[in-house]
Amino acid sequence: MKIAILIGSIRQGRQSHKIAHHLQQALQQRGLTIDLVDLAGVQLPLLEERVGKHPQLPHTAQELSNRLHAADAIILVTPEYHGSFSGVLKNALDYFYAEFNKKVVGTVGVSAGKFGGINAASQLQQVILSLGAFPLPTKLLVPEVYGAFNEGHELTNEHTTRSAQKFIDDFYWLASAVQEKKQLQPLAV
Ligand SMILES: Cc1cc2nc3c(=O)[nH]c(=O)nc-3n(C[C@H](O)[C@H](O)[C@H](O)COP(=O)(O)O)c2cc1C
Repeated sequence: MKIAILIGSIRQGRQSHKIAHHLQQALQQRGLTIDLVDLAGVQLPLLEERVGKHPQLPHTAQELSNRLHAADAIILVTPEYHGSFSGVLKNALDYFYAEFNKKVVGTVGVSAGKFGGINAASQLQQVILSLGAFPLPTKLLVPEVYGAFNEGHELTNEHTTRSAQKFIDDFYWLASAVQEKKQLQPLAV
């Protein structure tokens, strides 16, 4: 299985990429192939029109479309900004629809405060439904992110480490189940 992990934070001094790298390593250890999509490096313009409808689609959007199509399941990592997910992530998601069709999508919320981006992650699950995808019921929340990792960017907070393990277990289980179903009964193109 191939998993795309989107980092939805491009802020200077950002913290959200740390949990994305942790998940990347943990999923690789399970033998999965990971495509780490860092929106800081993608440079998507503000949306003018969607993939398939834009007469001159920006090449960065086409490349990201190809990467998402290639993924069997997706993880969205978002910081909590003013009680929601990041604008940069929403701008990216709005380009796409078919890329998410019937895929399992996990949400990861990151915050400086104690609530771990629960608003961001929960609201993102609603968006995933509108993309025709299956939001993983288990959310991974990373509270007090500035103290959760050491200088080597290793996750050191025990509670978040256990939460990440459960998130990975549940994500792998559901993504595998959907994948097996698609192998038995391929989706109509
Ligand atoms: C515009 C903005 C709004 C923010 N709003 C919240 C918030 O509503 N709740 C919260 O716990 N943290 C908030 N934060 C702090 C972020 O959660 C913090 O930056 C955290 O490290 C995750 O985001 P990062 O990837 O940008 O570092 C906000 C940060 C920014 C830049």
